[in-house]
Amino acid sequence: MSQDPLTRSMSLRRSVLSVPAINSRALEKSRFLDCDAVIFDLEDSVAPERKAEARENLAAFFAGAPLPDKERIIRVNALSSNFGRADMELVAALEPDAVLLPKVDEPQHVMTVSDFLADADAPETLRIWAMIETPRGILNAAATAEAGRTAGSRLDCFVVGLNDLRKETGVLPQPGRTYLVPWLMQVILAVRAYGLDAIDSVFNDFKDADAFDAECAEARAMGFDGKMLIHPAQIEAANRHFGPDASAVAEAEAIIAAFADPATDGLNVINANGRMIERLHLVQAESLVHKARLIAERQTAK
Ligand code: COA
Ligand code: MG
Repeated sequence: MSQDPLTRSMSLRRSVLSVPAINSRALEKSRFLDCDAVIFDLEDSVAPERKAEARENLAAFFAGAPLPDKERIIRVNALSSNFGRADMELVAALEPDAVLLPKVDEPQHVMTVSDFLADADAPETLRIWAMIETPRGILNAAATAEAGRTAGSRLDCFVVGLNDLRKETGVLPQPGRTYLVPWLMQVILAVRAYGLDAIDSVFNDFKDADAFDAECAEARAMGFDGKMLIHPAQIEAANRHFGPDASAVAEAEAIIAAFADPATDGLNVINANGRMIERLHLVQAESLVHKARLIAERQTAK
């Protein structure tokens, strides 16, 4: 597969379920849910007096059977808080796929954690995800994404947090998110410029399936790779909206086949039945087909 330094991650991240690390029942449940990734949360869903208990729970959970086919991410408390250091030590010990940093306001937040992981000899496969959920986080999203491209920085994905952002800006929760869309699109531009993934914010009202469906459709149209979820009831809709649809897969396969023809060697643009396709579409097409294959493999493994 062609690999460009700015090629986006090949991971499936349609449905990214947050599970409070304090909740052992929900942790166990997460093993069998059909989400692509699980965020084990030590931050906002855990009361300050129960942080140590949540860390112990999580260590015990990681000592059990691995999660099949799922990315495992641990959301830590801010390094500047009383809990951040112990959380990061747990991350270094458990070696999840990624650590999710809350309230990333500026590139330095990512660099400090990159340095911590390097000092702890954490494997390169342990990546950094960043919550973009403050006014400064949005304003600095491009600078943070750019810093994530420097050697050793490990940055892989942004997750938008609208509960915090609404609280800090005074923007009211409204269907369609009219006044938030400009900021959301700024995050999309930043990730696309530097080859990261972007996950849309949680939707709090998990009983309102219609409104959730509409918000997934909107997020997909904006270009998000997936949605952060709070409840298992939200998984199916997220997988449906952010998965590649059959016609897009067929088109991607046609692009790959067209450029595989030796007759297209040295050509950057070709005529495919009266429509121009460019070689730059090839990487995107390969990523899409790869993700469709991962989904199909998961269906057959069930
Ligand atoms: N992950 C895994 N399982 C979950 C879950 C989650 N995030 N949320 C609920 N479940 C499970 C429950 O344990 C319950 O399982 P059971 O039937 O075997 O007992 C089942 O799904 C139904 O749950 P329900 O009764 O509808 O909700 P609840 O009252 O147990 O939980 C919340 C509601 C909001 C407290 C819970 O969904 C939650 O904690 N979500 C995540 C919150 C979070 O991570 N916040 C931080 C990021 S914003
Ligand atoms: Mg938050």
